[in-house]
Amino acid sequence: MFDRLTLAEDLVDCRGEVIGRRGLVVSPEAIAEAGQAAPPLPRRLLGDTRLACDVRAALDAPVYAPLFARADARAAVERMLLAATLPDVLLEELEVIRRELPIVHQHAFATAAVAIRMLLAAVGPAQALPSLAAAALLHDLGMRHVPRSLHLRHGAALGAGDAHRIAAHPLLGAYHLAVVLGVHPAVSAARSHHWRCGQGYPGLAAPPSRAIEVIAVASAFAALTHPRPYRSSAYDARGAADVLVAEVVAQHADGNTVKLLVHALRGGSGDPRDVRFGVPREGHAPDENRYAPVSAPARSLL
Ligand SMILES: [Fe+2]
Ligand SMILES: [Fe+2]
Repeated sequence: MFDRLTLAEDLVDCRGEVIGRRGLVVSPEAIAEAGQAAPPLPRRLLGDTRLACDVRAALDAPVYAPLFARADARAAVERMLLAATLPDVLLEELEVIRRELPIVHQHAFATAAVAIRMLLAAVGPAQALPSLAAAALLHDLGMRHVPRSLHLRHGAALGAGDAHRIAAHPLLGAYHLAVVLGVHPAVSAARSHHWRCGQGYPGLAAPPSRAIEVIAVASAFAALTHPRPYRSSAYDARGAADVLVAEVVAQHADGNTVKLLVHALRGGSGDPRDVRFGVPREGHAPDENRYAPVSAPARSLL
């Protein structure tokens, strides 16, 4: 099972500090140990930073009108996202991503907005939501450690070496976040968001919590609803939901979590467990899509 790898080079943060030496085995145990050893750092409210405007941009994206058209729903999500607290070094990471990797940046804020909309529909304004908003914002931090050339891929199938570099990002992100944040849902969000009910990567000893499944489904929905170089256009919200329903049927996504998304897209009233999935309809998907899924290594890279 692919659940650990050896660092082929030093893992370095945006300030140039080494957070993991070349040769380190990034394993579930190493991630847990890093989390236990992390010193507590002071944190700042996202709402007090320059990133606050990115929250509003995500909420106002036309494709998400079904989720945020209701003023009370939009305001509640905005409040939770702006209440997320992060140490300066991770705020700086988000600034670097904003500058250098705009697709990852937009994806982070869209994922957080969608995930918090789903969680509010499921549990209401729970105390944990600002931490889960931070987790959703940071779930793809590991992509900052992937070579820049791979961010520009146009969707064709990758060679094994490049595919494995991309498949490393959940473990690299989880380790990075454990070093900085200690025990925090962002660590699990980073590690688990491509798990896909055991059909994705890396392998996990047990399924993630429902809240982390929500972040994973929100991440998939956010990726489908934004432009990518390998598609002629983005899916609209209906088309993206159809893709995720098909993933449930193929057992690549958790059915109850996708029900929560569909429930939120339909306005969020009633019980999400009563949601019945619709039938896919034409006209909601891009005409051209060259996407080839990343094939993760079958075994750990040691
Ligand atoms: Fe990812
Ligand atoms: Fe993602």
